[in-house]
Amino acid sequence: MDKNFSDIPKSLEIGIASSAYQIEGAWDIDDKSPSNWDTFSHNYPDKIAARVNGDVACDSYNKYADDIKWLKKGGFKFYRFSLSWSRILPAGSGTKTSKKGIDYYNRVIDKLIENNITPYLSIYHWDHPASLDDIGGWLNSTIVEKFANYARIAFQEFGDRVKFWTTINEPYSICTHAYGTGYFAPGLKLNEVGAYKCGHNILKAHARAYEIYDNEFRYKQHGKIGITNTCMNFFPINNNEIKSSKIAFEFNCGWFANPIFSKNGDYPKIMKKRIKLNSHYKGYKNSILPKFSFKWIRRIRNTSDYFGLNYYTAKMTENVELNNVTGWDDYSGVRLSNNESWTVGTHSWLNIVPHGLSSLLKLIKNKYDNKPIYILENGFPTDGSMQDDDRIDYLYLHMKQVLMAIKNYKCNVKAYTIWTLLDNFEWAGGFSSPFGLIYVNFTDPNRERIPRKSYQWLKTVLSQQKLIL
Ligand code: NOJ
Repeated sequence: MDKNFSDIPKSLEIGIASSAYQIEGAWDIDDKSPSNWDTFSHNYPDKIAARVNGDVACDSYNKYADDIKWLKKGGFKFYRFSLSWSRILPAGSGTKTSKKGIDYYNRVIDKLIENNITPYLSIYHWDHPASLDDIGGWLNSTIVEKFANYARIAFQEFGDRVKFWTTINEPYSICTHAYGTGYFAPGLKLNEVGAYKCGHNILKAHARAYEIYDNEFRYKQHGKIGITNTCMNFFPINNNEIKSSKIAFEFNCGWFANPIFSKNGDYPKIMKKRIKLNSHYKGYKNSILPKFSFKWIRRIRNTSDYFGLNYYTAKMTENVELNNVTGWDDYSGVRLSNNESWTVGTHSWLNIVPHGLSSLLKLIKNKYDNKPIYILENGFPTDGSMQDDDRIDYLYLHMKQVLMAIKNYKCNVKAYTIWTLLDNFEWAGGFSSPFGLIYVNFTDPNRERIPRKSYQWLKTVLSQQKLIL
């Protein structure tokens, strides 16, 4: 297929993504309050590889102009980054904003625009004022209006120049790991009970932010706003297991996509059914999946102008017996595994499955009414080497699948975003999972940046608008 899918169409923009806590550093500078990740990394260093934290990270708070220089040189059309809630609104709620915090983002936005790079802004990429965790964080329903209030401030301050918004990045990862497995701040191990409660509040918070944009800002700011989901693709281990791959998809992608993008809204039917049944098997009186009122189902449905997709990998699926708690991986009743023919990445969670991306794009197109799709993350962690041919291969193969899906499946893909410009703080993985096109020397107080081979390769691809190796 190589020759046919090398021209990058004008309709597809290519950019780069990052997030506040992962790159900014400056954790206690100006008026900023400690965030959940500051507190978590300081109090529980053992939960993070090599006991590191994001106190300085890439120091992008001070070196943002440098980062933008690299974006410009590389030829990237847009930059997806996120706001730090604790920098802008240190108390988490109310209206007492930090001028210094707001000014920082104004400087970043203005510099991007000056360089012809479009800002794509995420309101929430996993960090919030630590004080919100004292009252339960995403488990406490009062966070819905607190988030809505914070989102309004973001629209007010930046919406004159920002025309592409993500409300919340990867709710699946936040809920599963912050409140389910405990890998992420605040480290609560409440299994699916915590995760589903978190998801419920996130969906409402997202919908409120969308509503506010729609009612108060859209008419004068004319931007797009949506949510960004992480979706894997799922393949049955054999033809008798096709149903299990569909169920796994609903428990992963569908959890946050169905309430927003499906015709009837609400959680996927199969999720409601299986969780109810399996809650019973696990000894709960009621389903551990909270219920939306009709009013909320309606309010959440259709609150995204685009389908924001983060794709990294895929899984194989098979059904497991539903009659005994011990056989389950989770409430889905589906067991996930890897296919031996898939190349395992440097980091074991990331099997390389490029064809999973094109078939996922097709599935999303057909399932969710052909919404414009923005791929807002795709990337690969290596062993850190400067000659990162494995990253080049990963990106090449995935971009090829995107071009194929646009041409053959007529998928309406508007953007492809690489995770990420700089090596950065990879959450519980610390600095041991380098995803950057650019190496950062974390032992150097100046955080020197040196572009890798993949950066140079992409620069050529973008200048020629051709996907070549
Ligand atoms: C998902 C997240 O949005 C981002 O923060 C993370 O670093 C990458 N994927 C890689 O794991």
